[in-house]
Amino acid sequence: MKELDTKTARRERILVVDDSTSVRGFLEDLLKEEGYRAASVPDADAALDFLRSNVVELMLLDIKMPGRSGMELLKQVQLLYPEVPVIMMTGYASLDSAREAILAGSADYVFKPFRNEEILLSICNALDRLRIKRENIRLKETISLFNVSEAIASSVNSDSLHQIVLMSALSQTRSTRAALCVFDDSKRVLDVRAILGGEVSRPLRPNYVGYPAVDFIMQNNKPLLLYTGKDHPLAGEVDVLEYKPAIFPEMFPFEKEMVLFPLKIRNSMLGLILISKRAAEDGFTRSDIQVLSIISNQAAVALHNSRLMKDLERGYMNTLLSLNLVLEAKHPYTRGHTQRVTQYSLMVAKAMSLGEEDLRTIRDGATLHDIGKVGVSEEILNKKTKLSDDEMQQIRRHPTIGDEIISPIRFLAHTRPIIRHHHERIDGKGWPDGVDGRNLPLTVRLVSVTDAFDAMTSMRPYRQPLSYDRICEEVTQNSGTQFDPDVVEVMLKLIREGRVENFEQTA
Ligand SMILES: [Fe+2]
Repeated sequence: MKELDTKTARRERILVVDDSTSVRGFLEDLLKEEGYRAASVPDADAALDFLRSNVVELMLLDIKMPGRSGMELLKQVQLLYPEVPVIMMTGYASLDSAREAILAGSADYVFKPFRNEEILLSICNALDRLRIKRENIRLKETISLFNVSEAIASSVNSDSLHQIVLMSALSQTRSTRAALCVFDDSKRVLDVRAILGGEVSRPLRPNYVGYPAVDFIMQNNKPLLLYTGKDHPLAGEVDVLEYKPAIFPEMFPFEKEMVLFPLKIRNSMLGLILISKRAAEDGFTRSDIQVLSIISNQAAVALHNSRLMKDLERGYMNTLLSLNLVLEAKHPYTRGHTQRVTQYSLMVAKAMSLGEEDLRTIRDGATLHDIGKVGVSEEILNKKTKLSDDEMQQIRRHPTIGDEIISPIRFLAHTRPIIRHHHERIDGKGWPDGVDGRNLPLTVRLVSVTDAFDAMTSMRPYRQPLSYDRICEEVTQNSGTQFDPDVVEVMLKLIREGRVENFEQTA
């Protein structure tokens, strides 16, 4: 038989529910003597009142009581406080009542009159199981939250960040609907950046002015639970508002309860996460709220970092664009070249139905394609007479120099193939590497054509702009050797249709 703990101070609170004053008094004394914190109440209603405002680790519950029976109370406690083990006590020793108690989920049962050792052993066993269960839950939650934190911290762009945050919120709370909204103060709207689980019932950019739930979040920086009934089990632990359509801009059909979490960094309110339960799902629990607090805090940090990173990238890009402008300002023959090449490249790319990612690569790559010219002497770039072989070699270094400038900047890695290879040829006779152009990405082959096209339409120190017919002829002649034939075909079609803006002026 297991030895009982000696009377060291235990901190667990045990609630005795029994209509008999003498049993309550006896048990309270016994439990206190054993070092537990003990309290007792005479009936089910008093027990529920006590549970609402106190944390209880274990209950001793009399089966037979006036009013709601012990069995009824057991069922209710399991619904509202599933983590609290309940030991049933009965004065009517029968296997049936014991079986009923066990089937209903009680931790144990004891027959009155019981011996002190008997009841204390039963309590000790139930609390041991509770500790092991809590340890397991804590371990699982820690591992799971660790995975969530890692995923949030390592998400590569804001779209994947939003998705990971919502998926984590849903899986951790066994809910099915969630949305992540960002405040757009200038327009006073909630910009819904991501939504999971079901149809959206209202526009994705609801105006948030005048909604009490949003005001609450903005002012208090605390989670808020919206609920259709009056008495939510978590009332007192979380702020609860009775849901009415005027409380919050509707995003999902409201069925049961919804919790809103602020995304805030210091004094700056970034947005909010909302998780909604469907009628068939269990309500939010205390641990759901704790887990969601952690997820929303991490999401706020990650969102903030992603904004800082974007600002940094924007600043860096602006510096490079200024460098481009300075470069073009110094060389009147290439003024506006970068802008036109970017514009033509995007037109051709769209006509070829390239995807978003390729369009971004083309836009950034075309913008920076000649950045390496900062490393070539001004004298050579502006020379009006024929270049010597040595000078030509220097000009031909600009793609390599550009690649070297950009290589340490991780967020511009996608532009490097265009910067380095925009003077390569399909037949492998281009520069600086002489690579087989057929092996280069389409984005690079495309910018090669538009770059050459713009060079032909523009004045150069050593020649006049070529005529329309001459350019078409030149491009057609070199299709398949210098240029990619598919890109040439699209470019010529755009020219013929008069869709290449400013062509006539520049030509
Ligand atoms: Fe170039």
